[in-house]
Amino acid sequence: MKIAVIGTGYVGLVAGTCFADMGHDVICVDIDEEKIKVLNEGKVPIYEPGLEELIAKNKAKIVFTTDFDDAVRKSEVVFIAVGTPPKPNGGADLSYVENVARGIAVAAKKPKIVVEKSTVPVQTCERIIQVLDCNNGDGNGNGVKHTVVSNPEFLREGSAVVDFLKPDRVVIGTDNEKARNAMEELYAPLKAEMVFTDIKSAELIKHASNSFLAAKISFINSVANVCEKTGADIEMVAKGMGLDKRIGPSFLNAGIGYGGFCFPKDVEAFIAISEKNGYDFKILKEVQDVNKFQKENFVKTVEDALWNLNGKTIGILGLAFKPNTDDMRFAPSIDIVNALLKEGAKVKAFDPEAMERAKTIFGDKIEYCKDKYEVAEQADAVLFLTEWKQFVEIDLDKMKKSMKQFFVFDGRNIFKPKAMRAKGFKYESIGRL
Ligand code: UGA
Repeated sequence: MKIAVIGTGYVGLVAGTCFADMGHDVICVDIDEEKIKVLNEGKVPIYEPGLEELIAKNKAKIVFTTDFDDAVRKSEVVFIAVGTPPKPNGGADLSYVENVARGIAVAAKKPKIVVEKSTVPVQTCERIIQVLDCNNGDGNGNGVKHTVVSNPEFLREGSAVVDFLKPDRVVIGTDNEKARNAMEELYAPLKAEMVFTDIKSAELIKHASNSFLAAKISFINSVANVCEKTGADIEMVAKGMGLDKRIGPSFLNAGIGYGGFCFPKDVEAFIAISEKNGYDFKILKEVQDVNKFQKENFVKTVEDALWNLNGKTIGILGLAFKPNTDDMRFAPSIDIVNALLKEGAKVKAFDPEAMERAKTIFGDKIEYCKDKYEVAEQADAVLFLTEWKQFVEIDLDKMKKSMKQFFVFDGRNIFKPKAMRAKGFKYESIGRL
C-alpha cells in the first residue's frame, strides 16, 4: 500500500520504517529540512537500537521529504504522527495535529484514510473531521470526504522497532468498513491480534494504557516506601505479587519514578480531558504525587546519609530517563541533579548516550565525565539513576578505589544490598534494607 507518515519523531520514523519493512511504499514527511537531510544521508537523528539498520535495509521503499502536498496526493493512507506536547494547563497541545489535518484537506484531491497515530485525547477525531470538512474545497463540507481512523501506538523508546513489529495488539478505531479493511491489509504482515473499536474508544485506550502503567509504577513505589519503613523487601513482594496472572510481573520495578515524554504528559493530559468532560480523575493525581515524592525522597536519603550536601562531590551514573535511549525529557535525573545543585553539591555525571542532551539542560552547572569510572573519582557518593547494562556490569572494586567516601545510592535497585555492604559500601536502594 502507499502510505504517507507526517512527522518523523520517535513514533513517525519508527512506524514509517517498519511499514516499509512490511512491504509498503512509505513517504516520511517533516517540516524540519535539516532532519530530512540527515535521514537522506542514511543517518538517524535519534538513538534507537536497530532503526538505522532497518532504514538502510528498506531504502528503496522509503522516501524522506519536506514536500507535504506531494506525499499526501501520492498516498492512500496518511498517518498523522506529529507531536502533542503538554500545554501549561496540562492539556495536550493539538495545534500541530490541526495544522496537518488542514494541510491534508487542502492538498488532497481524492478521499484519504487519515490515521491518528499521535497520542491524542479522546474526541480529537471529531475535531480532525471538522477541520478536514471545513478545508476540503468548498468550505461547506461538500468537497472530498476523508475517513478518520484512530490507531494508537504502544512502542517504547529503546525497543521501538521490536515493539512495532511484534505488538501485543493493534488497535483500530473506525466505524467505516472500507477503512477497517484497509487497516487490516496494512497490518496483515504482522499477524498481530487486531482490536477493532469505535474511534473514541481507540483514542481512550492509549491514554488509559499509559496511565495504568504509570499507576502500576507509582503503586509499587508506594509499596516500596512501606517496605522501607517495615523492613520488608520490595523485590520479594513484587515477585510474590507478579506471579498472580491477574497482576503480572512487568512494571513492578520500584525506583526513582517514571520519566520520559509519554507517561508524565499522558497522565497529565488524561486528567485534563477527564476534567474538561466533568470527571475528577483523582487516582491519577495521586499517581503524579507519588512519582514526585520518589525523587524528593531519594535526594533526602542522600542528604540524610551525607549529613550536608554543600561542598560534597556527587557522581551521577545515568541521565537518560531509562536505558537504551538518549532521551532526557522529564527524566528523574533532571529533578534530582537540580535538587543536589540547589543544596550546594558539586555534580559530575556520565551517561552512555545522553551527554549531548544533558549539556543543553545543565550547561556548565555540572561536570561531564568521559566514562563511568571518572564519575567516581574523588566522589563522596555515587548515584545510579539509570540501569544501563554497562552500569550493571561496572567493576565495583575499581570504582570504589577512587571514591573519597563510599556512599552508593541505587535508584534502580541494580545491586544486592548485602553484597554491596560486604564490599564496604554504604549502600541505600529503594524499598530494600
Ligand atoms: C511508554 C509505554 O510503555 C509505551 O507502551 C508507549 O507507547 C509509550 O510510552 C508512548 O506513549 O509513546 P516509554 O515512555 O518509551 O514507553 O518507556 P517505558 O519503558 O514504558 O518506561 C517509562 C518510565 O517508567 C521509565 O522512566 C522507566 O524507568 C519507568 N519504569 C518502568 C519504572 O520506574 N518501573 C518499571 O517497572 C517500569
